[in-house]
Amino acid sequence: MPIVIENLTYTYQTGSVNAFTALKDISLTIEDGEFVGLIGHTGSGKSTLIQQLNGLMQPTSGRVTVDGFDMNDKKQRKSGRALVGMVFQYPDYQLFDETVYKDISFGPKNLKLDEAEIDRRVREAMRLVGLDFDEFAEKSPFELSGGEKRRTALAGIIAMYPKYLVLDEPMAGLDPSGRKAVLEMIEGFRKQLGCAVVMVSHSMDDIARSAEKVVVLRSGEIFKMGTPREIFSMADELNEMGLEPPFAARMAASLRRGGIDLPHGLYTNEALVDALEAWKRGEKHV
Ligand SMILES: Nc1ncnc2c1ncn2[C@@H]1O[C@H](COP(=O)(O)OP(=O)(O)O)[C@@H](O)[C@H]1O
Ligand SMILES: [Mg+2]
Repeated sequence: MPIVIENLTYTYQTGSVNAFTALKDISLTIEDGEFVGLIGHTGSGKSTLIQQLNGLMQPTSGRVTVDGFDMNDKKQRKSGRALVGMVFQYPDYQLFDETVYKDISFGPKNLKLDEAEIDRRVREAMRLVGLDFDEFAEKSPFELSGGEKRRTALAGIIAMYPKYLVLDEPMAGLDPSGRKAVLEMIEGFRKQLGCAVVMVSHSMDDIARSAEKVVVLRSGEIFKMGTPREIFSMADELNEMGLEPPFAARMAASLRRGGIDLPHGLYTNEALVDALEAWKRGEKHV
C-alpha cells in the first residue's frame, strides 16, 4: 500500500495575520519501493511537504494516508508514523544519547524488539552507513565529524526498517566524494531493506542518478511531476526556476549547440558518454 496525498493544503499560523499557505492542493502518490526525488527552489515547500508524511504536521485541508492510515486521525497517525523514517535537514539535532550505539538503538528499542535483534540491527545499520563498529559504537555522538553524525542519524533511522525513508537534503554541505558516498549508501539500503525513498535535494545530478519519479515544487504547488527524463528535458523551465539541470544535460545542450548531433533526453553522465561514443563511431541516433 502506498502513501497517498490528496488535495493537501497547508497553512502556517492559520487565523493569524502571519498566516502563510506553504502548500496548495498537492496530490501525489508514493508507491511501495519507489525512489521519489523532490526538487524546488528554497522556500517552495519541500520541507513542509515531507513533514506531512510522518504526521509531524497535519494538513490544513486535504488528506494524507500512509498505507491506509489517515494522518489527520490521532490514533491512526501513530500507526502510519511507524512506517515512515525521517532524516531531517540538520540531523545533528537528532542525536542525543551518550554513545553512538545507544543512539542508534533508541528507535529499535522503542519498537520493543528483543536485545539480540536490537544488537543485530545496530550492527547492520552501522555497516550499511559505513561506520566501523569497533571504532564508533562507544564514541559519544559529540566527538563525531559532521559526516559521521549524519551517518549515525541515518543508521538510527534505518535500524527501524522504515517502509518509507524520507530524507531532507541528506547530502547538503558534503564535498563531492561525501555526497557520492551518502547517495550510494541510500541506494544500498534501499536495495537491502526494499524501502521506498523520498529525497529532497538541491543537486539535480543526484536526483538524476537515483530517482524514478521527480516532483518539482514551485511556490507550494506541484509545477511538474514525471520521470527524470521528462523533467530534465525541460531545461529552460528549470533554469527559469533557478534550478540547474544535471551536468550531463547541460553539457549535451552545449555540445549540440556546437554542432555535435546528440539525442535529446540525456541526463546522466553514463548516457552522455555512451552517446558521445556512438557519435564518434559515426552512428546516427533516431
Ligand atoms: N514556521 C513557519 N511559519 C511560517 N512560515 C513558514 C514556517 N516554516 C516555513 N515557512 C514558510 O513556508 C515556505 C516553505 O518553506 P519550506 O517548506 O521550508 O521550503 P523549502 O524546504 O522548499 O525550502 C517558506 O516560504 C517559508 O518561509
Ligand atoms: Mg527545506
